[in-house]
Amino acid sequence: MKAAVMNEFGDADVLTYEDLETPKPRAGHVLVKVLAAGVNRLDHYLREGSVTRDIPLPHVLGADAAGEVAELGEGVSGLETGQRVIVVPGFPLDEADYDIRPALTAPSFALPGLHIRGTYAQYIEAPARFVVADDTGLPPEQVATLPVVLATSVHALKQVGGVKAGDKVLVQAGASGSGSMQIQVAKALGAEVATTVRDAAKADFAKSLGADLVINTRKEDPVARVKDWTGGQGADVVIDNLGGEVLAQSIDAAKAQGVIVAYGFAAGPEVRFDIRSLFFTKKQLRGTMASDPEDLEWGLEQVRAGHIRPLLDRSLPLREAAEAHRLIAAGRVKGNLVLLPWAA
Ligand SMILES: NC(=O)c1ccc[n+]([C@@H]2O[C@H](COP(=O)([O-])OP(=O)(O)OC[C@H]3O[C@@H](n4cnc5c(N)ncnc54)[C@H](OP(=O)(O)O)[C@@H]3O)[C@@H](O)[C@H]2O)c1
Repeated sequence: MKAAVMNEFGDADVLTYEDLETPKPRAGHVLVKVLAAGVNRLDHYLREGSVTRDIPLPHVLGADAAGEVAELGEGVSGLETGQRVIVVPGFPLDEADYDIRPALTAPSFALPGLHIRGTYAQYIEAPARFVVADDTGLPPEQVATLPVVLATSVHALKQVGGVKAGDKVLVQAGASGSGSMQIQVAKALGAEVATTVRDAAKADFAKSLGADLVINTRKEDPVARVKDWTGGQGADVVIDNLGGEVLAQSIDAAKAQGVIVAYGFAAGPEVRFDIRSLFFTKKQLRGTMASDPEDLEWGLEQVRAGHIRPLLDRSLPLREAAEAHRLIAAGRVKGNLVLLPWAA
């Protein structure tokens, strides 16, 4: 099979288009023909080697796959060859761990593209238990934008943030791949949403997703705007995709006893804040990582109901994986990018 292979850590050019042996599905597993593979910022960090270098090379990146069942391993029932499916973005490898929640805490938890070979390939093997029917009715290139951002956003807002109807939520970086999904998830949960962007085009994009308040942080003070929007209180929940110098603002924009969910570090991994801004007001800073199969299930129900839509920026042939990574590194993506393993 063809795959975008990483033989070393480095810039986007380390991704090369090569032949790899097609996996054979083990008992209880299925072979999925990948019709479209989503690209996430995590893939870019992994390729750089800035998350971990503890990855055996050569490696295949990618956690998102929309495809169809190509072959069933021994003992698999409930799935058929040719059936459209989505691979759950992260699952335990050991059957004894399948029911552990959060799934991330299972000793054998693996994220495709990090712990095991990923989806930037024509085929991927996965446990049948973590391959779900794709009944969204959407084309694979749209579906492939969903799994990671949808499931992790549901996990961050619903499970970690405890967002409920009527809450006022601030999403930092509302035009990012994750922020654009979090606006939609928060709205689907019945919350009101404020979000931040840094230019007018991204403001329009965030508005089109249903954000109630869009703050251009190059022109306005986000903390003052959120305080104003909440009658002086602050947001019930803040989703921080940025870290860096932005996390202190996220803490200040939350109400007393509010929750700040640390989801990402697009503005940098090192943060500085005055600890008194957190504990004098009993605010809670909570981390989130990955998701459970139930988060994907809930998210897909919202997609089917038309409450959440995939946000495909563009799709590229798999052989152009390096170009996809250059676009991500340059911040030139609104929503998500997808690679097509079978395109010429
Ligand atoms: N916790 C989890 O389970 C999980 C899951 C997926 C992703 N993540 C993490 O979430 C983060 C975002 O990922 P993504 O895929 O959404 O990224 P993305 O689509 O590449 O977007 C990054 C965003 O960050 C903004 N940004 C960068 N530096 C900034 C700064 N100094 N101030 C304000 N905005 C800044 C960019 O805004 P401009 O366009 O204005 O530059 C852009 O909107 C990453 O750290 C990723 O690893 C976490």
